Amino acid sequence: MAVLVTGGAGYIGSATVEMLRAQKREVVILDNLVYGHREAVFPDTPFYEGNIGDAELVKRILGEHDIEACVHFAAYAYVGESVTKPAVYYQNNVVQGLRFLTTLTEAGMKRIVFSSTCATYGEPQRLPLDETHPQHPTSPYGASKLMFERIMQDFDTAYGLRFVALRYFNACGATPERGEDHDPETHLIPLVLWAAQGKRAHISVFGSDYDTPDGTCVRDYIHITDLASAHLAALDYLQNDGASTAINLGNGQGYSVLEVIETAREITGKHIEVKMEPRRAGDPSRLIADAKKAREVLGWQTRYPALKEIIGTAWAWHEAHPNGYESS
Ligand SMILES: NC(=O)c1ccc[n+]([C@@H]2O[C@H](COP(=O)([O-])OP(=O)(O)OC[C@H]3O[C@@H](n4cnc5c(N)ncnc54)[C@H](O)[C@@H]3O)[C@@H](O)[C@H]2O)c1
Repeated sequence: MAVLVTGGAGYIGSATVEMLRAQKREVVILDNLVYGHREAVFPDTPFYEGNIGDAELVKRILGEHDIEACVHFAAYAYVGESVTKPAVYYQNNVVQGLRFLTTLTEAGMKRIVFSSTCATYGEPQRLPLDETHPQHPTSPYGASKLMFERIMQDFDTAYGLRFVALRYFNACGATPERGEDHDPETHLIPLVLWAAQGKRAHISVFGSDYDTPDGTCVRDYIHITDLASAHLAALDYLQNDGASTAINLGNGQGYSVLEVIETAREITGKHIEVKMEPRRAGDPSRLIADAKKAREVLGWQTRYPALKEIIGTAWAWHEAHPNGYESS
């Protein structure tokens, strides 16, 4: 029995595939490589290059492999771009996603772990954010993920689909072999490390007058190895007939932008030039997860909650892959 991983050539998907394989689980990957990397895929893992919305291809995969469950990472995930190109985001994340889910359920595949996001909550009304917090996304990206959660709920009612929607906070870190190589890159930690490597002249910090200890935004950073282990636990939960549910995946503690930069200076021993800029519209001052449910329902424990370890693993990967996957 195999697990179908969509988006398995991407950042979090490839790290999850690595862990599934380490646990001797059979894996099949579907990724169109719009953002993923062929080099991030193990050469001996069955890999299909194509679109999740391609029903013929998905049927072929289901025919060629004994798929017991799916982990669905494939999506576009640039919040800012989703504001200027909402059609692209709804088309990929919702329309193609719905086609995919329809093909799966028509073939009788009833278990799915879905990459959702804290962006489905929108502006926090209280902190830390637990799963009962109202969901009012402020971007088309967040809305597209919320729509998919809703579609899965309705498929549960009508067709008996069982899902776990994992709402990640800020994914970060690396394994020795798999790291963050997005183009364009918008995430803080890789950008800070690029500045340390001299690939960028400076790192911009947007806003220093927030209501936080040092005035910069505070975010909840969660290591991709910890995300991966939660996906394995969610697959076991579904296999043991767990009911459909949504679960936050976060560290439970926040780190400010300046803390991230200072820790990166310590770890890399490099000078990192900082440029203070005005606030960006729509950035909440703090986003922190309440991850109690993940511990209680999935028995999940984080291995890399400390910022030093998170940045240390990311730095090791960036040093070994100075041009990302291109150089591997
Ligand atoms: N990175 C984060 O901090 C974060 C936070 C919350 C949620 N998420 C979600 O986690 C998932 C993975 O994120 P990531 O950072 O690894 O992104 P990523 O871009 O590295 O990986 C996504 C992968 O999906 C593939 N893909 C996209 N659309 C596809 C389609 N229609 N058909 C086939 N393949 C397709 C891309 O080629 C890519 O390899 C996404 O769904 C994202 O929304 C990420």
